[in-house]
Amino acid sequence: MASTVLVGLQWGDEGKGKIIDYMTERSDVVVRFQGGNNAGHTVEIGAEKFVLHLVPSGILREGILNVIGNGVVVNPVALWEEIDALQRRGVAASSRLRLSGRSQLIFAYHCLMDGFREGRLGDRKLGTTRRGIGPAYADKVSRTGIRASAMADAGRMEALFRAQAAEYNAIFRQAGCEVLDVDAEWAKVKAVLPHLVPLLDDTALLVNRAADAGKEILFEGAQGTWLDIDYGTYPYVTSSNTTSGAACTGGGLAPCRIDRVVGVLKAYSTRVGSGPFPTELQDATGDLLRTRGGEYGATTGRPRRCGWFDAVATRYAVMLNGASRVALTKLDVLDSLPVLRICTAYQLDGKTITDMPVDSADLERAVPVYEEMPGWQQDTTGVRSRRALPKAARAYVARLLELSGTKLQIVSVGPKRDQTFTVGR
Ligand code: IMP
Ligand code: MG
Repeated sequence: MASTVLVGLQWGDEGKGKIIDYMTERSDVVVRFQGGNNAGHTVEIGAEKFVLHLVPSGILREGILNVIGNGVVVNPVALWEEIDALQRRGVAASSRLRLSGRSQLIFAYHCLMDGFREGRLGDRKLGTTRRGIGPAYADKVSRTGIRASAMADAGRMEALFRAQAAEYNAIFRQAGCEVLDVDAEWAKVKAVLPHLVPLLDDTALLVNRAADAGKEILFEGAQGTWLDIDYGTYPYVTSSNTTSGAACTGGGLAPCRIDRVVGVLKAYSTRVGSGPFPTELQDATGDLLRTRGGEYGATTGRPRRCGWFDAVATRYAVMLNGASRVALTKLDVLDSLPVLRICTAYQLDGKTITDMPVDSADLERAVPVYEEMPGWQQDTTGVRSRRALPKAARAYVARLLELSGTKLQIVSVGPKRDQTFTVGR
């Protein structure tokens, strides 16, 4: 038995939800360790489609313990809405879920602040999901946040909420913008407390006891490497560490107890929101990827920016995460293309570079150097083994892996649970 961290190696939306669902066939515990309901993890089972935001992707299988760890920022109203919707669809979500008392809460004032800041930035806006993620993490680090454990005492919770809401409203009032209706918002929060308080736990203890008992633990990353607050294309990033190390700090298991890191990698690139994206295609090929790949945000519905596979960015991401194995997703989306391009280097100010520049302004100026490969122009959605892939598809995959310095474990050729196969362990 082992503990595995699964992370996105690009800008998010690599298909982590689907891969987690596939991998959880063998798991006992699934742990979310960062981010919040900015995430949108889509899982399709038979004719049913589930989009999960805060609830870990192991929720759809019976017998799995799902943990929202201390590194997550949790909007209690949104969490209950998600649990309730799952339960109405026959998924026994509450009984499969534990919530860290150390996680930080997101309230409506964080969402208002998120929108307010974006508005002030004008055309330099980050393109956030407006779920209050940045302001909630800022409160955590400023030591003015409210932890989930406070929910256990409604009186204390109300006092903390009202005090912090008053702080935010003072800022909103000064700025002459929308002010939060504190009473109405408190009523919403109060109404969900009885549902969420029973889920509170010391999840670090839970996770370590599960590891002691030899259970299979899967840490489910949200967003992707290039949205990481430290390594991503700052400031066009999210407000948490999305790389594998965060599984330890945000999930509660020590580094020496993590056995392996699996990266999720899409066969091409996408990005939602602003920021540098060297291989972006603003042409018919980009439109084709968007349409065939259904590249619209699972959380916000925004069209995703689409482009060629970037081996420079991916090799760096493999290094940062220690992703010795990858799950390659959406290979089928490339089925109709006659020629494929892979970015192998960047041209920057007259130099050829093969590592990601540190500064986003440099990445913004970087011009990709491409290598071309023939497409396969065959339907791969029914393929269930590496051998059965068209020869050109095998060559494309082999080249991606070689350039990225990693090995293949799982391939996905469609959104359904059964459109997936394992090639190595
Ligand atoms: P925030 O996380 O809402 O603050 O948004 C910051 C940036 O991260 C924006 O560019 C978002 O589009 C992006 N982002 C946040 N969550 C996700 C996700 O789950 N998938 C893809 N992009 C995301
Ligand atoms: Mg997503």
